Amino acid sequence: MKIAVLPGDGIGPEVTREAVKVLEALDLPGLTLFDGDVGGIAYKRHGHPLPQETLTMARECDAVLFGAVGDPSCDGLERHLRPEQAVLGLRQELGLFANLRPAKVFEGLEHLSPLKPEIARNLDILFVRELTGDVYFGDKGERIGIDGSREGWDTMSYSASEVSRIAQVAFRAARAGDCRVCSVDKANVLETSQVWRDTVIEAAGAHPDIELTHMYVDNAAMQVISRPSQFGVILTGNLFGDILSDLASAAVGSIGLLPSASMGERETDHGIFGLYEPIHGSAPDIAGEGKANPMATILSAAMMLRHSFGCEAEAARIEAAVEKALADGIRGGDLGGEDGCEAIGAAVRERL
Ligand code: NAI
Ligand code: MG
Repeated sequence: MKIAVLPGDGIGPEVTREAVKVLEALDLPGLTLFDGDVGGIAYKRHGHPLPQETLTMARECDAVLFGAVGDPSCDGLERHLRPEQAVLGLRQELGLFANLRPAKVFEGLEHLSPLKPEIARNLDILFVRELTGDVYFGDKGERIGIDGSREGWDTMSYSASEVSRIAQVAFRAARAGDCRVCSVDKANVLETSQVWRDTVIEAAGAHPDIELTHMYVDNAAMQVISRPSQFGVILTGNLFGDILSDLASAAVGSIGLLPSASMGERETDHGIFGLYEPIHGSAPDIAGEGKANPMATILSAAMMLRHSFGCEAEAARIEAAVEKALADGIRGGDLGGEDGCEAIGAAVRERL
């Protein structure tokens, strides 16, 4: 179990350290951790936010545990030297095409959600979003339209092979949960969605245990916040997934609790290569103060054990420990509490 640990800058190192201590507390046989620089700290030490040696090390591992990047002292740099380029570079270089983002409201934290507590309580959705295709990466440009006015254009497309591989990720992830997948598209108006829907249905043929449903994206946006309990996994493309996953994150109401995974195709001994990180950034406003909530990173480490190493029991143990800590009233500043980064990490380890 080779893990590349890339803490990054800002609160990245603080939250990553706590996640690593949780992993070490599990005493997993064969666990080996390697450290690498990314982001602002990498720029300062090596002149680049994603040094070649970091990339090589990540490639040789089975998974990457990533903190956060976004050092504001790098703001004046050219775009390709900015810390955020490390995230984009890793995605591209490691072929990460599937983004997994759970949105879950923990027991006792319903009041943080902008939704009514009785609705928020039922929000527990895993978004599986395609990351490398769709309108973001199609042909695009600007031209003068026939009426002589300025016109911008973008092209949406998905090939059946792209859809099929992301559908496989969703079906596999659903199996760790309650086997429900809802594929979200706009098949009533988009040709791309026709190919999407046909391909997802075909791919589901090999997974008879999965209950597959389909929904148009506009309806899905309403359903996610009005009747979230109907969803297990939501499978969707890059554009719709970007918007829906942010909508669901806001419905959770706390930034320090949300993990994520970006998966590639390469198989490890017991899973798939992936990069795991909290959805929050480097929070320069609280960096170095020991105030960051490490739970999102700790939960990212749990996702890593599940998806890259097949350690479902250990993943569930970490998640249960985080839930127990929250149930016992442990609260980071993001949840309106006073507990610091180290104290929260220790509280989770005590409950493993
Ligand atoms: P942010 O997520 O870093 O912070 C937003 C707010 O939430 C801040 O007030 C921060 O203190 C708070 N916060 C974030 N994580 C927290 C935690 N774990 N515990 C307690 N409070 C927490 O977003 P912001 O401020 O927009 O971005 C800061 C930098 O991070 C920027 O340079 C941005 O580009 C970068 N960024 C990097 C990401 C990544 O590494 N994948 C993702 C998002 C932003
Ligand atoms: Mg977004």
